[in-house]
Amino acid sequence: MVSFKTIVYGILLALFAYYVYGPPHKLEPSVFRDRYGPWCVIAGASQGLGEAFAREIASRGLNVILLARREKETGEVAERIRRDFNVEARVVVADLSDGDSVLQKLEQASSDVTVGSIIYNAAWSNTGYFLDRTEQELKMAVGVNVQTLTLLSNRFLKKFKQNKKGGLLIISSVAGLFGVKHVLAYSSTKAFQIAFARGLWDEMSEHNVDVVVSVAGGIRTTGLSTVLDAEDYPPGTQTPEEVALESVSFMSAKGGPVLIPGSLNRLMQSFLQLLPSWASTKLIGYNLEKRLRKKQ
Ligand SMILES: NC(=O)c1ccc[n+]([C@@H]2O[C@H](COP(=O)([O-])OP(=O)(O)OC[C@H]3O[C@@H](n4cnc5c(N)ncnc54)[C@H](OP(=O)(O)O)[C@@H]3O)[C@@H](O)[C@H]2O)c1
Repeated sequence: MVSFKTIVYGILLALFAYYVYGPPHKLEPSVFRDRYGPWCVIAGASQGLGEAFAREIASRGLNVILLARREKETGEVAERIRRDFNVEARVVVADLSDGDSVLQKLEQASSDVTVGSIIYNAAWSNTGYFLDRTEQELKMAVGVNVQTLTLLSNRFLKKFKQNKKGGLLIISSVAGLFGVKHVLAYSSTKAFQIAFARGLWDEMSEHNVDVVVSVAGGIRTTGLSTVLDAEDYPPGTQTPEEVALESVSFMSAKGGPVLIPGSLNRLMQSFLQLLPSWASTKLIGYNLEKRLRKKQ
């Protein structure tokens, strides 16, 4: 006879395995296209993770609007997408620190089509002590990571609500789970993104609109390579393609608002959340400082 205790332990173990390995999810491309298409906006799409998102989305048959500041690089991404996936790709050159201009340019670029999803991938980041940051840098951090995301969501999710479908995927960072010295403006604005996605997920769920945040660990991108040497990348560092596949699949997984991509990242975060706040904050700050010093 199986005891009650064994059953409880079994259920807890199954829940933990489900959390670590993630829910099984990949919608049929036609269902995905109907739910999140026919067009998807990718903000921050001129390289690395942004391109990986654009390719993942295009592989599911959606057309893409690629937004970034560098016209040439974004145009080249669009060209590769058209060639490889036989979908349409438009380019919007805009600076996400200027929310009004971004909204205007996006409205213009999408006036004759239906946008069914947004992936907010771009971020402002910088390293060094908070008090050494200029006011211009801090305005950029809030502009790109908070203000424009907020305005864009408000504008486009009204349309998604009317259509009773659609999705918003925000790319945040595990740094946003703590508040990390040397990347304070970055990690604090990333914390906003996590809270924003959680509440918006709840508000939009009754309208059949999916809002999720991907709280990524290390990703092998140009962005990471500018601050850390490759041998100092955090354990669990993933490729852009892995993060894009897992995050896009999570949009429809009904697994709640928050994904931490990568099993090892999920395990490490579970452990860090058990520590007292002073210990996890100090541990992460110390680790980053050590690695940044090596790069200097
Ligand atoms: N790399 C990591 O280890 C890591 C870890 C956790 C989370 N993440 C998150 O992953 C996302 C992508 O990071 P990444 O490492 O791939 O960054 P990245 O290599 O620096 O790429 C950032 C992308 O965003 C665009 N962008 C940046 N600022 C912009 C602005 N003001 N206006 C318009 N576009 C802008 C860039 O294009 P232009 O320069 O052409 O504008 C580029 O396409 C970010 O949200 C980041 O927080 C990254």
